Amino acid sequence: MCGIVGYIGSEECLPILINGLKKLEYRGYDSSGIALASSNDIEIIKSKGNLKNLENELNSKKYDSNMGIGHTRWATHGIPSVLNAHPHVCCENNIALVHNGIIENYQELKKELKSKGHKFCSETDTEVLVHLVEENIKETTSFREAVEKSLSKVKGSYAITVMNKNEPETLIAARKDSPLVIGSAKDGNFVASDIPAILEKTRNISILDDNEIAILKANSVDFYSNGKKVNKKPIEVTWDLEAAEKGGYEDFMLKEIYEQPKAVKETLRAYLNGKKIDLSFLGLKKVDLKEIDRIFVLACGTSYHAAWVGKLIIEQWANLPVEIDISSEFRYRFPVLSENTLILAVTQSGETADTLAGVKEALNRGQKTLAITNVLGSTITREANGVLLTQAGPEIGVAATKTFTTQISVLYLLALELAKVRGTLSDAEIQKKIEDILTLPAKIEEALSTAEAIEKLAGEYYKKPDFLFLGRGFGLPVALEGALKLKEISYIHAEGCAAGEMKHGPIALIDENCPIVAVANKSKTYAKVVSNIEEVKARGADVIAVISENEKLLKNYLKKYITVPLIDEALSPITTIIPLQLFAYYMAKAKGLNVDQPRNLAKSVTVE
Ligand code: AGP
Repeated sequence: MCGIVGYIGSEECLPILINGLKKLEYRGYDSSGIALASSNDIEIIKSKGNLKNLENELNSKKYDSNMGIGHTRWATHGIPSVLNAHPHVCCENNIALVHNGIIENYQELKKELKSKGHKFCSETDTEVLVHLVEENIKETTSFREAVEKSLSKVKGSYAITVMNKNEPETLIAARKDSPLVIGSAKDGNFVASDIPAILEKTRNISILDDNEIAILKANSVDFYSNGKKVNKKPIEVTWDLEAAEKGGYEDFMLKEIYEQPKAVKETLRAYLNGKKIDLSFLGLKKVDLKEIDRIFVLACGTSYHAAWVGKLIIEQWANLPVEIDISSEFRYRFPVLSENTLILAVTQSGETADTLAGVKEALNRGQKTLAITNVLGSTITREANGVLLTQAGPEIGVAATKTFTTQISVLYLLALELAKVRGTLSDAEIQKKIEDILTLPAKIEEALSTAEAIEKLAGEYYKKPDFLFLGRGFGLPVALEGALKLKEISYIHAEGCAAGEMKHGPIALIDENCPIVAVANKSKTYAKVVSNIEEVKARGADVIAVISENEKLLKNYLKKYITVPLIDEALSPITTIIPLQLFAYYMAKAKGLNVDQPRNLAKSVTVE
């Protein structure tokens, strides 16, 4: 997704913008640009591809400016090019604007503006915004009102920052359905798409809400909502900078795989004061779990696989029917739901367009909604009736890892809370399960100790073109997630499949070029998985199995296996996924790929 950074203050602006954009590279982009206010002019420098290209452009000249905006673009309308890169400027070159989101009615706006004489030079939807502001500045008394009037004509999503040559002491930022934060420090004020971009400069952060506008001056920030001035209480961000840097690991993804024991521990700690579950933190105020007679979960990608584990565990512990669907299907088929069906959205970014749209539709129909997300201040945290935050800290790698295991951790506690209010588990049974859950961080540590063996395995397999991942029960969402991890960072085709489905077609894929990864830890369907492994081996398959420690049968039968700690099957996804995350990571490294920013992918899919 696009990245935005803006600054106004007493410091030299350019290095702040470039450094901030670098911290946003993980969001994925294909071009970038900067606008600098300098001696009542606006200088625009843009380039295609990596930020290094922009820096090369900038090095050709000395810039002296205390106000500016920067942008990394992820193309949605118009190919990646310098012309389509942001900032966009109006005809008179006196207004420059950057944007993240999608202007759904840009064609009609463009037609109207063209009829008024505006000339367009890009194929983007964004460019209509800067011409709208230019048009409205003629008819309004202030820059802010011109921006508000322009945005009132817009359908779609936006996070924008705009500057005006004739107001060299003002930056204006605004958002609707696309994240934007404001940072304040003694030497100036900042705007960014995400906190890590400005964390080096300030921890004093205000999260812009939808339809809010921020007016940034060198020494002040004023907020307006629907034309009225409002006060906003900033949050003190506690992330240390390390948390948003690589911390000594080669890649963010590896760092975040190794952060999982701490992330799961912090997440459990947020809801387990002592040994009692308290989900009121941030969230369940308006959702009375006692009234819930069914849950419908919506999510995408990795969050969908975590939601699948949630379905299994809530059904097992709380005896409650749970249906799940991917958000992009849910939002358009919107199933018939009773008023006591809880809509549960699982989304690490809290900004996924399809998941947000499903939640908004549910709210419009009066359904109670609960969100599990990792980002405080994300859109979903202001939309859903209740919020349960994972405490994974910033996940910079595009491939979700620690947010997957922390989402499952929260789902375990939600399942226990439901079991308590519904009386499906006794207090003693709940206490026992809490004790088991509290061992998870240590179990993850144990699973991480197999990294060296997995790196070696990857060295043997990274040239293979296809993989099939098999699992049953709690092993199935793990197999699906393992396949997603492998394909999204190593670009090797991988399919996750219910082991019991093999004979219904996928078994035709088996040959020496399609290794099998089987999730074969101890479970009530373990014997079935063993027979599936025998079936595929009989057809010449090369099998790698994830098995429970002190397992005998498969160790003697298979040459390649990774052991994970023996643990209750229901809790096993938190450990069996670890070797599959590491396998995907080392396969991609063996191929020399960029694991943090895989091609074509973005960290949060804020457009449909
Ligand atoms: C997972 O590794 C991918 N990055 C992607 O599938 C992701 O899980 C999906 O886009 C959902 O994102 P969300 O959790 O922020 O909603």
